[in-house]
Amino acid sequence: MTDSPADRIADLRRRLEEANHRYYVLDDPSIPDAEYDRLMRELQALETAHPELASDDSPTRTVGARASGGFAEVTHTIPMLSLDNAFEDAEAGDSDRERFHEVADFERRIEEKLGRKQPVFSVEPKLDGLAISLRYEDGHFVRGATRGDGTTGEDVTANLRTVAAIPLKLRGSDWPKVLEVRGEVVMLRRDFDTFNAWALEHGEKPLANPRNGAAGSLRQLDPAVTKRRKLSFFAYSIGDVQDGELPDTHSATLAKLREWGFPVSHEVGTAKGLDGLLDYFRRIGAKRDGLPYDIDGVVYKLDDYEGQREMGFVSRAPRWAIAHKFPAQEQMTTLLDIEIQIGRTGAATPRARLEPVQVAGVTVTYATLHNADQVARLDARIGDTVIVRRAGDVIPEVVRVVEEQRPEGASPWHMPKSCPVCGSELVREEGEAAYRCSGGLICAAQRKEALIHFASRRAMDIDGLGERYVDALVELDMVKTPADLYTLSVDDFIDMKRRADERDGTTPETVKQGKVASKWAQNLVEAIDASRSTTLARFLFGLGIMHIGESTAKALAQWLGSLAQVRRTPAPVLQLLPDIGPEVAASIATFFEQEGNLAVVDALLERGVTLTDEASPSARLRERLDFAALLRLFPISGVGEKGAASIAGYFPTFEKLVQAGASHWSAAGISKTACAGLEAFLADKTQRQALQASEAAMRRLLEAAPQPSQTSALPLEGKTLVLTGSLSTLTRDEAKARLEALGAKVAGSVSKNTDMLVAGEAAGSKLAKAQSLGITIWDEAQLNAFLAEHGEGQ
Ligand code: IVH
Repeated sequence: MTDSPADRIADLRRRLEEANHRYYVLDDPSIPDAEYDRLMRELQALETAHPELASDDSPTRTVGARASGGFAEVTHTIPMLSLDNAFEDAEAGDSDRERFHEVADFERRIEEKLGRKQPVFSVEPKLDGLAISLRYEDGHFVRGATRGDGTTGEDVTANLRTVAAIPLKLRGSDWPKVLEVRGEVVMLRRDFDTFNAWALEHGEKPLANPRNGAAGSLRQLDPAVTKRRKLSFFAYSIGDVQDGELPDTHSATLAKLREWGFPVSHEVGTAKGLDGLLDYFRRIGAKRDGLPYDIDGVVYKLDDYEGQREMGFVSRAPRWAIAHKFPAQEQMTTLLDIEIQIGRTGAATPRARLEPVQVAGVTVTYATLHNADQVARLDARIGDTVIVRRAGDVIPEVVRVVEEQRPEGASPWHMPKSCPVCGSELVREEGEAAYRCSGGLICAAQRKEALIHFASRRAMDIDGLGERYVDALVELDMVKTPADLYTLSVDDFIDMKRRADERDGTTPETVKQGKVASKWAQNLVEAIDASRSTTLARFLFGLGIMHIGESTAKALAQWLGSLAQVRRTPAPVLQLLPDIGPEVAASIATFFEQEGNLAVVDALLERGVTLTDEASPSARLRERLDFAALLRLFPISGVGEKGAASIAGYFPTFEKLVQAGASHWSAAGISKTACAGLEAFLADKTQRQALQASEAAMRRLLEAAPQPSQTSALPLEGKTLVLTGSLSTLTRDEAKARLEALGAKVAGSVSKNTDMLVAGEAAGSKLAKAQSLGITIWDEAQLNAFLAEHGEGQ
C-alpha cells in the first residue's frame, strides 16, 4: 500500500459511499458489516491524522445515504443521529478493562465530565433493522419517516400504517400534544422464515436476512406488499416533543412509551459501572440466538437527560451513548475449492474450502454449501470472494458471493458425475435435493461414516474407537462392516498401527516402545468386547438405518420388544405405531429386506452381540393395531375412514373378508363404490399379498403381546400397591406411573387394604408392617418382570 493519504482517503470514501448506497438505498448490501466498519475506522483515523483532508461530505460525517426517489422527503425537526461503535480488542490483554477498553473509555469520559462516579445507564439490545421516526399529534399517528441521511428521510407513512406493532392512536391521555417516537422496524425471525418458505414455494426471490426484509418491505411503493411481509417495531428513543412533560430519565421514558402502546424490547434494563455494562453485554450475548429478532450488539445510554445534555454530541453521534457490537458473524474470504463429502447414507454434500478467516473468534477453513442447488443459487465459483457466516453453534455457511470481485475466467461449478472416494456414480432421486453415492458399502467414505456412527456414544458406545482408527481400519481393508470389529484382536490393532505408520512414513511407535504400546490396543479390544452387551434401541440406532434416529429406535424397541419382531414387521404395520410415517416405515422395512444388511445383523449376533432387554411386544399394541386401521393405509378406492371401520366390523380378518366375497359385503351394507374398490384392490396380486402379509404380521404381533387378564381390563385393576425403599432401575415416579397404567392404585402407606408392597433397597418400617400383615411382597426384579410381561417394561 504505497497510496498517498489523500488517494487512500478518496478510495475509502468512494467505497463507503458505494456500500452505503447498496445498503440503505438498494437494500442489497455488497460487503459485510465488519468490512464496512473496518473501512470506516480507517477513514476516521486518516481524517484525524490529516485534518487538512477532512470534508463535510465525507461518509464519516453523514448517516446512511440520501433519500432515493419515489417517496416524498421529510426533514427531521430534530436530526436522527447515529451511534459510535465499540468493539472487543482481541489483541489486548486479558482483563476486561483492556479487552473492552473502548467501553471502559466511554464510561470513564462520562464520569469525568459529569464529575459523578458510576452514573446509571439504560442498557438495550441493538436491534438489526431500520431506524424510523413516528410523529403523533394529539395522540394520532400523522407521519412516519426513515432516517435517510439523518436530516432528511423518506415519508413512508402509508407503509408504516400497515405495521401492526405501530399504534395509530396512543393509549392513555398524558401524552404530549406533539410526540416523535423513534425506534427500529424489524422483521421477526419467524416472520422471515415464513416469508422465505412462501417465496420458495412461489418461485420468488427469498430475503437474504431479516434486516433486508425489514428495509426492503418498508420501502415498497405498494403498501399492500408491505402488509403481506409482516414487520414489527420496537421503540427506543424520542425526537420532537411539544406541549407536554416527559420523565427525567430515558428508562422511565421507555416505560411511558410502553404505557402509551409502543412495543419496547423486553431486554431493556439499567446498569452501572464497567462491570455492570459488560455483565449485560454477556447476558444478552448468551441469549442472542434465542431472541425473536436479530441483534448485532447492545446500546448503553446515559440514563438521565440532564447528564445527556451536559455530554452533548460530536458530528454525527451523541457522546452519552455507544453501541457495543458483538464480534462480526460475517467475514469475506476466498473460495479455494468446492469439495464433496460423502455421508453415512451416501449423501454427497458440497463444502467450501476457504482461505482461513477469523469469524466471531474462530478460524474458519470450511463452510457448508448445503447442496448442489444452493451452489447454483449462489453461483459460487472457485476463486470467488465469498461471505461466510457463523452464528451460534451452527456450521459456518457461505451466504453470498461478491460478484464484483470474481476473477476472470471463473466458470460455474457442477456436481461431479462420480463419487470422489469410490468412483461410483452420484445419483439424484426424484424430488430430492441431495445427490447420493450409489456405492453403498463399497464406498470407503460410507463405510467409515457407518462405523463411526455404530461405535458412537449413543449407539454401541465403543470407547476409544475414534475417527482416526476407523480411517485406518477401513483404508487397510481390515474392517468392512461393523460385525468385523468383533473379530479384531490386540495383535490386529498393533498390526494396524504399524501398517498405518509405515504408510504415513512415521517411525512406528510399536517399534520404539515395545510392549508398552499394546496397552491402548488392549483397552480397545476390551471396549469392543464390553459393547457386545447392549440394548435393542442402541443396536437399532447403531445400524444406521436411514431416517432412524435415537428416538425412533427407542420407540421401535418399546413397541416391538425384540429384534426378531422388528425384522419381520412389514412397513404398513410399522406405520400404525406412533410417530412413524410412511417414509420411516419404508426405510426400516427396506433395510431388513436387503441380504447384505441381514448378513451383517446375523454376523453381529453370531459374534456375541446380545440384546439384554428384549421382551415381548407391548400390550399397548392392542390400542393401535386393528384391521380397520390397517385397511385405511391401503389405497382402496371408495373406502375412507368410516368404510374401513365398517368393513373391519363385519369381516375382522383378511381371510374372512376374502372368503365372504362381494355378495356378502353388500349384504352387510357396504356401499356399492366401496365394494367395487375392494374388488379391484384384491384383484391386484401385489396389493392383495401386501395386505395379507401385513394382516398376518399384525396378528402375530398381537398374539405375542401379553394378554390382558381375563377378569378385568387391566391386570392391576382394583389393586392397591405401596412402593418403599429405593429402586435402581426406575425412579419412584416412573414405577408409580407404570403401575397406574396397569390399573393399580398406588398408596403412600401400608394398611390392611394394601394388596401388595414393592420393596426396594433399604426398605424399612413399611416392609416390616407389610410382613406383619401378611401382605404379598415383591422385590425390584419381580416388579420389573411383571411390568415387562404387561408391556410396561423399559
Ligand atoms: S439509539 C441518538 N437504541 O442503531 C441515538 N439505536 O448505529 C439514536 N439501533 O440508527 C439511536 N437498536 O437504527 C438506539 N436500542 C437502540 C437501537 C438503536 C438499534 C440502531 C438504530 C440507529 C443505529 C445507530
